[in-house]
Amino acid sequence: MLKFCDFRGFQSMKLLMMVLLSIFLLVSGDEDAFIGVNIGTDLSDMPHPTQVVALLKSQQIRHVRLYDADRGMLTALASTGIKVVVTIPNDQLLGIGQSNSTAAHWVSQNIVAHYPATNITTICVGSEVFNNLPNVAPVLVTALKFIHGALVASNLDRQIKVSTPIASTIILDSFPPSQAFFNHSWSPVMAPLLKFLQSTGSSLMLNIYPYYDYMNSNGVIPLDYALFKPLPANKEAVDANTLLHYTNVFDAMVDAAYYAMASLNVTNVPVLVTESGWPSKGDPNEPDATSDNANTYNSNLIKHVLNQTGTPKHPGIPVSTYIYELYNEDIKEGSVSEKNWGLFDANGKPIYTLQLTNSGPTFANNTGNLSHCVAMEGADKKMLQAALDWACGPGKVNCSALLQGQPCYEPDNVVSHANFAFDAYYHMMGRGEGTCDFNGVATLTSTDPSHGSCQLFGNGGMNGTFLNSTIADFNSTSSAAGGGGYGGAGVLMKVVFVLAVVFL
Ligand SMILES: *[C@@H]1O[C@H](CO)[C@@H](O)[C@H](O)[C@H]1NC(C)=O
Ligand SMILES: *[C@@H]1O[C@H](CO)[C@@H](O)[C@H](O)[C@H]1NC(C)=O
Ligand SMILES: *[C@@H]1O[C@H](CO)[C@@H](O)[C@H](O)[C@H]1NC(C)=O
Ligand SMILES: *[C@@H]1O[C@H](CO)[C@@H](O)[C@H](O)[C@H]1NC(C)=O
Ligand SMILES: *[C@@H]1O[C@H](CO)[C@@H](O)[C@H](O)[C@H]1NC(C)=O
Ligand SMILES: *[C@@H]1O[C@H](CO)[C@@H](O)[C@H](O)[C@H]1NC(C)=O
Ligand SMILES: *[C@@H]1O[C@H](CO)[C@@H](O)[C@H](O)[C@H]1NC(C)=O
Ligand SMILES: *[C@@H]1O[C@H](CO)[C@@H](O)[C@H](O)[C@H]1NC(C)=O
Ligand SMILES: *[C@@H]1O[C@H](CO)[C@@H](O)[C@H](O)[C@H]1NC(C)=O
Ligand SMILES: *[C@@H]1O[C@H](CO)[C@@H](O)[C@H](O)[C@H]1NC(C)=O
Ligand SMILES: *[C@@H]1O[C@H](CO)[C@@H](O)[C@H](O)[C@H]1NC(C)=O
Repeated sequence: MLKFCDFRGFQSMKLLMMVLLSIFLLVSGDEDAFIGVNIGTDLSDMPHPTQVVALLKSQQIRHVRLYDADRGMLTALASTGIKVVVTIPNDQLLGIGQSNSTAAHWVSQNIVAHYPATNITTICVGSEVFNNLPNVAPVLVTALKFIHGALVASNLDRQIKVSTPIASTIILDSFPPSQAFFNHSWSPVMAPLLKFLQSTGSSLMLNIYPYYDYMNSNGVIPLDYALFKPLPANKEAVDANTLLHYTNVFDAMVDAAYYAMASLNVTNVPVLVTESGWPSKGDPNEPDATSDNANTYNSNLIKHVLNQTGTPKHPGIPVSTYIYELYNEDIKEGSVSEKNWGLFDANGKPIYTLQLTNSGPTFANNTGNLSHCVAMEGADKKMLQAALDWACGPGKVNCSALLQGQPCYEPDNVVSHANFAFDAYYHMMGRGEGTCDFNGVATLTSTDPSHGSCQLFGNGGMNGTFLNSTIADFNSTSSAAGGGGYGGAGVLMKVVFVLAVVFL
C-alpha cells in the first residue's frame, strides 16, 4: 500500500501532479484551432500587398505567416483583424544571436513600429535552422532569448510569442510515435529550446510534409494514409506501445513531436504546425503531385484541424496549422513541384476548388470563383445598416424579399439582410469593379448567400433590371444619413431595420 510520507510515494504523487498540471496547461492554454496560410513571395509578378490583403479578406483567411517582416505587407495588414506571424530571415539570425542590441533594434523596427495596428501575434526566429543553417544553431536559443527580452522591454511579451519552426525530419523513428525522439545531434539545442518555449508559454513550431514522407517511404506509406482518406481497419497504423490507432500521417507526426518532447521531459508545450500542404503539379517522377491530391490533402487537412479532433495522444487539443501556401511561387528553384504548392496563382485565381462544405466560418468554404458580394465579417453594424439602407434606397435594389413574411426576412439581422442587398446590387451592376465595396463593409466571396427559399437569383429578374445610369454610387452619397429610405415598401422596411439595429 502506498504511504504518502514514503519518499517514492511522494515522488510519484509529485509526478502525478506534474502530469495533471501539464494536461491542464495543454488543455486550458488554448483557444480554438485555426487555419492560417503561409505567404511566400518568390513570384515573378508578386501581387501588391493591398491585392494580397484583398484576397485574404475575400477568402476569410484570418491568420497568415510571412517569411520576413516586410513593411509593405505589415502596413497593408493593419486594421484588418488578420493575425500575423512574422519571420526573422535566416540570414539575419547570426547577427541577432550574437548581439542583444541588434535584436532590440530588429524588434523596434519590425514589431514596435507596426503593433498594435497590425496584430502581430508571433515571431518565428529563423526557419528550419537545423537543416538550412546548422552552423548558426548554437546561437539559436540565444537569438530567441534576445528577441523575447526586447519584447519584455517593450511590454509586448504577453501579446507576442517567440518560437522557431523546425522540420519534422529532425524527429527520428517517428513511427511508432511513442518511440520518436529528436535527432540526438541537436539535443544540446533542443533541450534549452524546449525549456524556453515552456517558460514563455510558446508552441513548438513544426513543418509537416506528408507528401515527402510518402515519397521517401518507398511504398511503405499508402497514399490514402498521407491524404487523410479513410483506410480499411486492417490498414490503419497501430502504435504497438500505446495501442493508439493512426489514420493519417499528419496526426502520427504531431504525436511523434509530443513523444519526442516527452523524451526530453517536456510535456506541456503545444504543437503549432507552421507549414503543411501538397503540390498540385510535379516533374514526371512525381506522379502524385496532382491537383486532385492537393485538393484532397488541403481540404481534408482544413476539415481535420477545424473540427478540433486533436490527435490520438491528445484528442480534442487544437493543432492549428498554416497551409503551405497562398500563391504558387513560379521563380522558386528546384523541381516543378517546388513551384506548385499554392492555392492561388498570382492573379488570385484558384488553382483548384477546395471542398470545404460545412467546415465552419473560419475559412471561406471554397476557393472557387469570387462571384458573390456579402457583408464583411466583423463589420461595424451601423455602417452595415447605412450601406443596406443605401442599397435598398438610392441603390435601387428590389429589397421586398426582405420584408416580414417574405423569403429573405429570416434570419432577421442586419448581416443577413446586407448579404442579400449587397449581392443583389453587385449582380445588378454586372459585377463591375468597385461595386462590392460599400465603404469597406462588403467583400467578395465564393459562397452564395442564398439559403432555403431565399434564392437571390430567379426571384424576379434581379440582373439588369435597372439601367446603370439611373443608379447612384454609394461612395458619392452620404452613408451616415442612411440614404433616402427604401423604394416601394420603404416605411415598413425602415421600422424593421431600426428594430434590428436596436437589438444588435
Ligand atoms: C490580436 O489577436 C489576439 C488573438 O486573437 C486578440 O486577443 C487581440 O485582442 C488582438 N489584438 C489587437 C490589437 O487587435
Ligand atoms: C538585452 O536587452 C534587453 C532590452 O532589449 C534587456 O532587458 C536585457 O537585460 C538585455 N540582456 C542582456 C543579456 O544583456
Ligand atoms: C542527425 O543530425 C546530424 C547533424 O545534422 C546529421 O548529420 C545526421 O544525419 C542526422 N541523423 C539522422 C538519422 O538523420
Ligand atoms: C528526464 O527525467 C528522468 C526522470 O526524472 C531522468 O532520469 C532523465 O535524466 C531526464 N531526462 C532529461 C533529458 O532531462
Ligand atoms: C470531428 O470530431 C469528432 C469528435 O470530436 C469525430 O467523431 C469526427 O469523426 C470528426 N470529423 C472529422 C471530419 O474529422
Ligand atoms: C460554410 O458553409 C456553412 C454551411 O454550409 C456555413 O454555415 C458557413 O457560414 C460557411 N462559411 C463561410 C465562410 O462561408
Ligand atoms: C471560374 O470561372 C471561370 C469563368 O467563369 C471558369 O473558366 C473557371 O473554371 C472557374 N474556376 C473555378 C475554380 O471554378
Ligand atoms: C421585387 O421583387 C418581388 C419578389 O421578391 C417581385 O414580386 C416584384 O415585382 C419586384 N419589384 C420590382 C419593381 O421589380
Ligand atoms: C468606392 O470606394 C472604394 C474605396 O473606398 C473604391 O475602391 C471603389 O472603387 C469606389 N467605388 C466606385 C464605384 O468608385
Ligand atoms: C443573373 O446572373 C447570374 C450570373 O451573374 C446568372 O447565374 C443568373 O442566372 C442570372 N439570373 C437571372 C434571373 O437572370
Ligand atoms: C453596368 O456597368 C458595368 C460597367 O460600367 C457594365 O459592365 C455592366 O454590364 C452594366 N450593367 C448593365 C445592366 O447595363
